[in-house]
Amino acid sequence: MAKLAIAEKVATDMKSASWIREMFEKGLRMKAEFGAENVHDFSLGNPNGAPPEAFFEAVRAVADERRPDLHRYMPNVGFDETRAAVAKFISGEYRLEFDAGAVILTTGAAGGMNVVMRTVCDPGDEVIVLAPFFPEYRFYIEQAGGKMVLVQTDEHFQPDLDAIEAAITTRTRAIIVNTPNNPSGAVFTEDKCRGLAEVLKRHDRDEQPIYLATDDPYRRIIFNHDWCPTPVKHYPRSLIVSSYSKDLSIAGERAGYIAVPPAVPNREMILGAMTMLNRTLGYVNMPAFMQRVVARCAEALCDVGFYRQNRDLLCNALLEYGYDLNIPGGALYAFPKTPIDDDVEFVDILMKYKILAVPGRGFGRPGHMRVSYCVERETIERALPGFKAAIKELR
Ligand SMILES: Cc1ncc(COP(=O)(O)O)c(C=O)c1O
Repeated sequence: MAKLAIAEKVATDMKSASWIREMFEKGLRMKAEFGAENVHDFSLGNPNGAPPEAFFEAVRAVADERRPDLHRYMPNVGFDETRAAVAKFISGEYRLEFDAGAVILTTGAAGGMNVVMRTVCDPGDEVIVLAPFFPEYRFYIEQAGGKMVLVQTDEHFQPDLDAIEAAITTRTRAIIVNTPNNPSGAVFTEDKCRGLAEVLKRHDRDEQPIYLATDDPYRRIIFNHDWCPTPVKHYPRSLIVSSYSKDLSIAGERAGYIAVPPAVPNREMILGAMTMLNRTLGYVNMPAFMQRVVARCAEALCDVGFYRQNRDLLCNALLEYGYDLNIPGGALYAFPKTPIDDDVEFVDILMKYKILAVPGRGFGRPGHMRVSYCVERETIERALPGFKAAIKELR
């Protein structure tokens, strides 16, 4: 049989279209037809808050320094000063002691999670993912030769511990946990975090280790908590993946990291593998300029209040119009039920009102839709009548 111009697996993956991309493309067509200002685009998770002042100060300081080695290659793990600054920050954030040696700087959390999956997966190994989920996980897992095993969360999008336990097999190698969650906005409770750790401990063995890989780029984008609970506190074999994409509102700068807590068995071997993979996967690590910047503002945070106000404006209105919705505790997304079972059909109805949202089935949870509220306030204000009319139309 004739070969395709591209790998068959990639061709298949491209067909099982990402709904986010599909909505993005529909959005481009609508914007060309009606003008960008008349389309209310809630389809993308691109943080739009301003970076904190400390970030701009750090950028100026690094630029003014004119270090001769500023733009050169560096060790695969990144600069020591940045690793030390991140270690200090996460020691407070996770309430665990990290030293610079525990931190590897990566190309965003996305690059970091790819490195983690490659580090732990052999072909055929299973990785549990909790739905609804960030759709790129499947690619990260499969690129590492693994198989994604989906487990649904409960109706509040909290982990269903019995279902997770039932999904564990002798091939289970890892579970990816994302709290606050994209797309549901759920913040997993302390009880669920502890419970999840207990489940994993019951099955984790030195001869068959199960890793907890936390994808934490939204950890500090929380609205009702002072601190985001994490299962990392309760489970030794944890690997943390995170980034400054949301904390500093610099998603395009690709400033991420992996942290390996002190209690992880075989830590040096794991760090060695990650160091090699960070380079051989090709992304190497956080860009050099950003490393010097992050070293100076590793604890700074964007204005979370901006997102909280957007959440309140959007979610209070949706509830008032009759949408069934869990108020998100963090991240940048609301994930209401669609008023009809067919989420794709409802998203099409919204498009009549020039509103773009993403069907829940794209995240493994049909019957819902993701509405990203990292948008300008006016976008929400202008879209609300459309959300109201769309649900009314069905009654
Ligand atoms: C759940 C989740 N994980 C990872 C990422 C990737 O983040 P980064 O920009 O740090 O690569 C995103 C980006 O939106 C995300 O939503």
